[in-house]
Amino acid sequence: MDDRPAHWDGVYETRDEAALTWFETEPALSVELIRKHAALCDPVIDVGGGASRLVDCLVDTGYRAVTILDLSDAGMNVSKCRLGPRTDQVRWVTADVTKWNPDQAYALWHDRAVFHFLTTEDDRKAYVTRLLSALRDGGKAIIMTFAEDGPEKCSGLPVMRYSPTGLIETLEAIAPGALRPVEAQKHVHLTPKGHEQRFQVSVLEKTGR
Ligand SMILES: C[S@@+](CC[C@H](N)C(=O)[O-])C[C@H]1O[C@@H](n2cnc3c(N)ncnc32)[C@H](O)[C@@H]1O
Repeated sequence: MDDRPAHWDGVYETRDEAALTWFETEPALSVELIRKHAALCDPVIDVGGGASRLVDCLVDTGYRAVTILDLSDAGMNVSKCRLGPRTDQVRWVTADVTKWNPDQAYALWHDRAVFHFLTTEDDRKAYVTRLLSALRDGGKAIIMTFAEDGPEKCSGLPVMRYSPTGLIETLEAIAPGALRPVEAQKHVHLTPKGHEQRFQVSVLEKTGR
């Protein structure tokens, strides 16, 4: 049985958005990278967007084709309530990214803290298949995961940890030559309680190969 939606709905229904370890008042690094790699008219998707305030920032910045995908309606409902009338400017998709069938081509794929929950080879392959079918050739993927020295669990679930090199090796083993590394950096996220969480942040380009 697939208990992922129930797990995440439970998280968002029982805890305040601002108390979640991954909460960011302002997702500054995500906004900076998206602005660098996508024009305002480009279709952009935030995979596993949940209750993130990234959607507010993208709409307010002037992005006109924003999609938020998450398997948790409860998570996206937090964002919808916060956005108010601006909700209608966004496309909302309730789906597990590993089972989703993209129906449009995106210029930019953003994932903060979703890929690292995929602990089986089958799930990672399914994710990469969706990523490659959703992104147009030359499109960029921003993938943020816990770093090698990051937490071993998040929200009570085990996670994979990656260096930028480890991430590209993992993707390369699934889809050789399909994604080219563009840039990468380390990032330290401070949780609402002030604990450090180390991330790696990679930007990749779909080559079309
Ligand atoms: C740690 S939270 C990060 C949320 C958001 N990206 C942020 O930075 O605030 C992980 C999010 O991914 C969603 N998620 C987990 N596994 C998923 C999957 N297989 N498909 C789609 N969404 C998923 C969860 O519901 C949750 O909203």
